[in-house]
Amino acid sequence: MKDRLEELRTEGLQALEAASSLSSLKASEIQLLGKKGALTTLLKGVGALPPEERPLIGQLANQVKKEFAEKIASVSAALKEAQIAAELDSAGFDSTLPSAPLTLGGAHPVQVITRELEDLFLSMGFRVADGPEVELEANNFDALNIPADHPARESHDTIWVQEASGETPGLCMRTHTSPVQIRTLREAGAPLRVIAPGRVFRQETQDATHDHTFHQMEGLVVDRGVGVPQMLHAMNAMIEGVFGKHLKTRIRPGYFPFVEPGFELDAQCPFCDEGCSVCKGSRWIELIGCGLVHPKVLQESGVDSDIYSGFAFGVGLSRLAMLRYGIRDVRWMLGGSISFLSQFSE
Ligand code: PHE
Repeated sequence: MKDRLEELRTEGLQALEAASSLSSLKASEIQLLGKKGALTTLLKGVGALPPEERPLIGQLANQVKKEFAEKIASVSAALKEAQIAAELDSAGFDSTLPSAPLTLGGAHPVQVITRELEDLFLSMGFRVADGPEVELEANNFDALNIPADHPARESHDTIWVQEASGETPGLCMRTHTSPVQIRTLREAGAPLRVIAPGRVFRQETQDATHDHTFHQMEGLVVDRGVGVPQMLHAMNAMIEGVFGKHLKTRIRPGYFPFVEPGFELDAQCPFCDEGCSVCKGSRWIELIGCGLVHPKVLQESGVDSDIYSGFAFGVGLSRLAMLRYGIRDVRWMLGGSISFLSQFSE
């Protein structure tokens, strides 16, 4: 039996090696290893052997099987390669011709700014937090001191989630990144330093400075003794980080129900001298909303507002990108035009 096995090994390996196509290789494989193949048939005789010979034959049979399998794999790989080479040859393919130039993609302008700001704030001890784009009404509004009857809700042009039945389950597309304030405060408590970049959504009439989807970055610092000076320092670091010392800015009182006092930071319009469609004739472009976290918001999230205070800001990343790169229309940002985007790839 041992001799017959070894004979089969030699013949089998030769037959596999000689296969000139994938189909003849398959045929040899079936002949050798198939259910009715030579090896299977041969091994049916093992039962008739004296018990002490059986293990040796079994071992040898496994070895032969393994060698067949390895041979099949190597012959099949070689045949496939030859097939591809033949196809390329017959198609007149010249592998020495230079290829069409490869164009590399690049980071989106908003992504460039986001990464820079993440680096900057990480260096100041912040961490990056995240929140869902479909948000609870309670986090997007109520916990931020904007109850259902509050006029500030009107200004947010909210896109509400509605079920097929027409029911509204208390969910909306987040209108700002501020609900991440609530999520991180509840999760981690004070003291805290986080930024949260992401997409936000509003049911806006689109124009040069408004789109239904845009990018913001939230910032939140809660600690003992945090006040307006710390906030201003962070705002300046951010503006200088993105624009150097050249961008002219102003800060003025602003109203947001979740901060007190609240401020708005504007940048001087780089597109005009006496008013244009980007600054709406005012010469200033709103960049950042900020202020000291309202004690109600802290309490709402389980933070003791007698011990802790904080500042929060929300910066328009799309606006930052527009100002830095001289993009006059926010609709370009998510318009998907390759010729627009390719201007920013390095
Ligand atoms: N969430 C505000 C907006 O989208 C911006 C803001 C954030 C203002 C944090 C104050 C503090 O307009």
